[in-house]
Amino acid sequence: MSAFGKTVQLIGVCALMCGTVCTQSKANEDLVVSQTQNLQFETGRQLFAANCVVCHRIGGVGQTGLAPPLTSNPARYVESLEGRKQLIWTILFGMYGDITVNGRHYNFRMPAFAQLSDTDLAQVINYVAFEIAQAPKSTGTIDAKDVAAERTHLPDSDLLRKHRSAVLDSEPAVP
Ligand code: HEC
Repeated sequence: MSAFGKTVQLIGVCALMCGTVCTQSKANEDLVVSQTQNLQFETGRQLFAANCVVCHRIGGVGQTGLAPPLTSNPARYVESLEGRKQLIWTILFGMYGDITVNGRHYNFRMPAFAQLSDTDLAQVINYVAFEIAQAPKSTGTIDAKDVAAERTHLPDSDLLRKHRSAVLDSEPAVP
């Protein structure tokens, strides 16, 4: 084989090796990201199991006629400032009165969780939005300060539901 041929061959081998190594390191990176993400939401998952699963069921699938599924709306809430407030308010203050989720009516009482710390509330909310409802990871998470800022606002349930409709109607529903 000519020297040129050898060089070409060598370049080929190098490219191949790099390809493998690069794909490998990308895979490792993804693994680390997903492990960090899982760890990040682990406390939230435990808080959800302790406080919310009784009504919203494991994975937030909901119970017909009793508690709505949390698998879609929370992802929309975290996309906007008003939506983030809506999500925080619902969990801080609870909610009652008729609401519709995925075409089904729910009209039962969601209790208030103001007794939980700002950090715990932020964690359970992030678990709901990012793990259950699969909000895109590029959307910023909610932190304890965001929750603390809403503690003083006490919307009554009518206002809470009006605000909810305004947030959800502000863009077309995700099919
Ligand atoms: C006693 C049952 C019960 C428990 C416990 C409960 N929820 Fe709810 N949740 C409901 C009901 C019922 C509604 C709908 C309220 C209505 O009809 O106005 C609701 C509504 C919601 C909504 C609003 C959904 C939407 O589409 O706007 C979110 C978010 C939510 N719950 C999260 C949680 C989280 C997080 C916890 C635990 C910290 C929790 N819930 C605990 C019953 C419950």
